[in-house]
Amino acid sequence: MYGTAAIFAFALIRSTHPTLSVQQCSTGGSCTTQSKSVILDANWRWLHSTSDYTNCYTGNEWDSTLCPDVATCTANCALDGADYSGTYGITTSGNALTLKFVTYGSTTNIGSRVYLLDDENTYHLFNLKNQEFTFDVDMDADGGKSKYAANAAGAKYGTGYCDTQCPHDIKFINGQANILDWTPSATDVNPHVCEGITGQTGCKGTACGDGDERYDGVCDKDGRDFNSWRMGDETFYGPGLTVDTNSKFTVVAQFITSDNTTTGDLVEIRRIYVQNGKVIQNSAADFSGISAYNSITDNFCNAPKTLFGDTNSFEDRAMGDAFEAGMVLVMSLWDDHAVDMLWLDSDYPTDPDASQPGISRGPCATASGVPSTVESEYSDSSVVYSNIKYGPIGSTFS
Ligand SMILES: *[C@@H]1O[C@H](CO)[C@@H](O)[C@H](O)[C@H]1NC(C)=O
Repeated sequence: MYGTAAIFAFALIRSTHPTLSVQQCSTGGSCTTQSKSVILDANWRWLHSTSDYTNCYTGNEWDSTLCPDVATCTANCALDGADYSGTYGITTSGNALTLKFVTYGSTTNIGSRVYLLDDENTYHLFNLKNQEFTFDVDMDADGGKSKYAANAAGAKYGTGYCDTQCPHDIKFINGQANILDWTPSATDVNPHVCEGITGQTGCKGTACGDGDERYDGVCDKDGRDFNSWRMGDETFYGPGLTVDTNSKFTVVAQFITSDNTTTGDLVEIRRIYVQNGKVIQNSAADFSGISAYNSITDNFCNAPKTLFGDTNSFEDRAMGDAFEAGMVLVMSLWDDHAVDMLWLDSDYPTDPDASQPGISRGPCATASGVPSTVESEYSDSSVVYSNIKYGPIGSTFS
């Protein structure tokens, strides 16, 4: 193990992880409160020399003296603690987590990504088959610390992020500095994300699924989603709509198995909303030629992919195995330096006629979502994640 002593000897910032309570519910709806905490992702942290405070990484480039090769860099550099509120705009209160979009501290910080911790060295693992909750991400429970000897940081420093899109700007993968063929984003000095197949994995060449090889890589880049607007109901989710995004609402995700047990195959993901005491079932797909799906199943995934002309790259990549292993909760706030978040709430891609099925995803202009604009115009924005509950189907809401 390299790095452990250095991290403790030279960490300038003593972190106190913000505490966050969550609730575990049981059938019938009674819930018990559990005290947890959140930890900031490693990619946001100050990475500096183990012998002094020289940056190993500045802007979007590695220091060539400290990091001439992977092994030297991994040995030379250590992650520091985090001033959660001052630097990163992350605060908690009871069961609520607030992530600020822009924080002006000694540096300007954009967004953040945090994980739920059981204790200082262990992410909380959710086992969600035949249960309900809201997030789905695959990670090592300890951030890769036990599996990869060189990773002295682990969950305590928020390492190990996975998200199946295989970006190239994750600073540490499986305990090694990720400096080979480093591709900094031209416009984004604050990194986004990375991942592999059976856990966090570095990739080379085609396996990364870059550019024209998007669908040839090891990861499912597109994933499966249910965007009510894109699925044909433009009155369901948004400001002033059935689920009114101007005010607080609850999102429930149910992970249904083939035999209604925690060991069955994952066959369906169903989303339900609750707002002002009213339970709102998800909108139904509304296109001629496909059924009125209102949840995610294999059939739902195949039908719109065909109708929309999207490449179906997820068929061989089962999510059920990841659910079997347990999931870490990720909560984040970010902007999109690649395509301005148009895939979420505008027309995307921007060239085809927006009346073609699957192109229109929301009411936002195709010129919207540019990071420099949203960062200056909406610097005060933030998100609050609160009242997290998990338990058997039907136990966390009424
Ligand atoms: C699982 O539960 C649902 C909803 O209660 C029910 O409709 C279905 O028949 C059950 N499936 C099995 C295999 O028991």
